Amino acid sequence: MTAQMSLDQATTKPHEQLANHLTSGMEAVNTLIRTRMASKHAPRIPEVTAHLVEAGGKRLRPMLTLAAAELCGYDGPFHVHLAATVEFIHTATLLHDDVVDESAQRRGRPTANLLWDNKSSVLVGDYLFSRSFQLMVETGNLRVLDILANASATIAEGEVLQLTAAQDLKTDESIYLQVVRGKTAALFSAATEVGGVIAGAPEDQVKALFDYGDSLGVAFQIVDDLLDYQGDSGSTGKNVGDDFRERKLTLPVIKAVAAADAEERAFWTRTIERGKQEEGDLEHAISLLHKHGTLEATRLDALAYAAHAKQAMAKLPDHPIRQMLSDIADYVVARIT
Ligand code: IPE
Ligand code: IPE
Ligand code: MG
Ligand code: MG
Repeated sequence: MTAQMSLDQATTKPHEQLANHLTSGMEAVNTLIRTRMASKHAPRIPEVTAHLVEAGGKRLRPMLTLAAAELCGYDGPFHVHLAATVEFIHTATLLHDDVVDESAQRRGRPTANLLWDNKSSVLVGDYLFSRSFQLMVETGNLRVLDILANASATIAEGEVLQLTAAQDLKTDESIYLQVVRGKTAALFSAATEVGGVIAGAPEDQVKALFDYGDSLGVAFQIVDDLLDYQGDSGSTGKNVGDDFRERKLTLPVIKAVAAADAEERAFWTRTIERGKQEEGDLEHAISLLHKHGTLEATRLDALAYAAHAKQAMAKLPDHPIRQMLSDIADYVVARIT
């Protein structure tokens, strides 16, 4: 290995390394996304979609699909369709999620619901969902259809479960995990699983890819929830404090409610359950998270899921991509280490 190569590897982030490795595949995915987000009759569709798509996004999920397929020796064309399907589903859920969460910032830009309106976000999200179904049908593979259709239903189920679990102080860690497995991990695990399935990989490898995606997805959402309290919007591209304002019971708060004394419980009841929030409440909430060490405990939980994802990787064939995927698990939690 030359000194330059090792320097590059030391300074390139894992997801950039994977992106570099997958450059031509991801170009094909981006081209397919641009072609399929078009609409002959409704200009609002490409306007809204381009606003979100051109803002970038990490493209983590489609990269996982391409990587999983390559790792399992696939040499056909359909992993590109599957990767685009996964990113379309992701983009559709983001459009819907920002309406539901009344969020104002996404990927460093004002959200579509803010720039246009809720109606446009919901309807364009529906259009992208339908486009994703068309794309996956083109693969002609019923099993990947089954996996991705299930994932779409599970994401919606997770978001609806969150709707009823939010604002309810009885929400515990097991309900939280159910929400997270639904709204986030389901798409990560589907993204990796379909890569293995389209490659015709043996069942134990498909299972390992699923397990990797599932644990990675849980770790990813736990980190996202942590950054909602201690990130900075310059690097996350989203506003800090959204979850508190939305009265979502995420892991740091669930742990703090479990450790609360009577006075603290009254605070959580007022702000989260009754939604009577005042100036300074977010800061007080964060001080309670620090007092009970729940940000640190949440961070350790995320690290444990990332470690589990790496263990699942060990069951896959020895291949340069395997190390890159393992590094992605470190990268996902590196945002909080
Ligand atoms: C945001 O996902 C939604 C969550 C599951 C937290 P990403 O952080 O992958 O979003 P983009 O695509 O990079 O913007
Ligand atoms: C992400 O949940 C889940 C989906 C987008 C389906 P969040 O509501 O935490 O995601 P962000 O923080 O808005 O990206
Ligand atoms: Mg949201
Ligand atoms: Mg969030």
